[in-house]
Amino acid sequence: MILQGKTCILRSVVSSDVGTILLWENDSSIAQYSDTHEPYTQEQIEQFIENQQFGLKANGQIRLMIEVDNKVIGAIDLFDYNGKQAEVGVLIYNKRLRNRGYATDALQTVKSYARSLNIESLSAVIDDNNIASINLFRGCGFVKTDKNRYLCSMKRVVAPSILSADFGNLERDTLMLNHSEAEWVHVDVMDGVFVPNISFGFPVLTAVTKISTKVIDTHLMICDPIRYVERFVKAGSHYVTFHYEAAEDIEACIDAIHNAGAKAGISIKPQTEPEVLEPWLSKLDMVLVMSVEPGFGGQSFMPYSLDKVRRLRSMIERINPNCLIEIDGGISAANAAEVFTAGVDVVVAGSAVFCAENPEAEIVKILNA
Ligand code: DX5
Ligand code: ZN
Repeated sequence: MILQGKTCILRSVVSSDVGTILLWENDSSIAQYSDTHEPYTQEQIEQFIENQQFGLKANGQIRLMIEVDNKVIGAIDLFDYNGKQAEVGVLIYNKRLRNRGYATDALQTVKSYARSLNIESLSAVIDDNNIASINLFRGCGFVKTDKNRYLCSMKRVVAPSILSADFGNLERDTLMLNHSEAEWVHVDVMDGVFVPNISFGFPVLTAVTKISTKVIDTHLMICDPIRYVERFVKAGSHYVTFHYEAAEDIEACIDAIHNAGAKAGISIKPQTEPEVLEPWLSKLDMVLVMSVEPGFGGQSFMPYSLDKVRRLRSMIERINPNCLIEIDGGISAANAAEVFTAGVDVVVAGSAVFCAENPEAEIVKILNA
């Protein structure tokens, strides 16, 4: 793993006692995190590492040692509880790591490693001032985060778009989603001006949110969205996402969504680069990357979107790791794996779900892709 330009080794080490976490800084002092807090000698830590088997899981734990130029500088513990993949993770860092970059790079590596373990979430302490405290957390139970810590949701989310639902049976389709594995419902609002199509508005949204038990993820493909954000929140939206290309004053639109009590997302069309969002990224709860030209369901996925997701992912790690990435357009079980690996948290799927023989099974296939 390259951390700040130095080659590092991320080795998986097994240790049984969670309480003993070792930090190795420079040649001499070794800090031990357990009840004694006595520093270890060099020999002791080498002995410790020697005694571990590498790469195997034991007692439900994998420990990843982070080494820079052959020096262990930290450790990351991933757990699996009785086969239910890790819901608890620990990331520790030693105080000498003035450069925060180590932590975010390492975390990036851990996240992709963790994804392969179906880890649902991990909390990272990136605390350059003193030896990092140890943070245990559980799955989706959100820990309190402060300026040095952030929670990276590792959970994969599918948001079926009701634009592709059967509008003659919208209640049936909404109830179907209620007992599906989809955690969100994606609601595409189109005004026929910003996009060359008209979908639906407040009455349909209110009807859906009345019976839906899911997170309502409203995607506004409308001009000058600030006019209506409050009414979309009142109609039951939990996330309101507007288009970068449609808003006069982006900051004001984000604030209007937050003041109305919802999470704010911004969407970029295929030809808009993610870097344009940098000024507002710290305020955003989500960025929606369009992988088709907005306006219609059933279009084919634009592969270039993955490059945008990867660039956006590193911007988010740097500026606002709590911000989610959603992708929208042409997603199915066939391409979901590469999309999640690229760094997406939420995938929208319209036709793949509602045109499937068995929509609920399709949702599971996308989640497990
Ligand atoms: C397109 C919408 C998408 C669309 C997704 O403008 O924003 O949400 O409904 O449909 P599929 O998954 O079929 O591409
Ligand atoms: Zn959409």
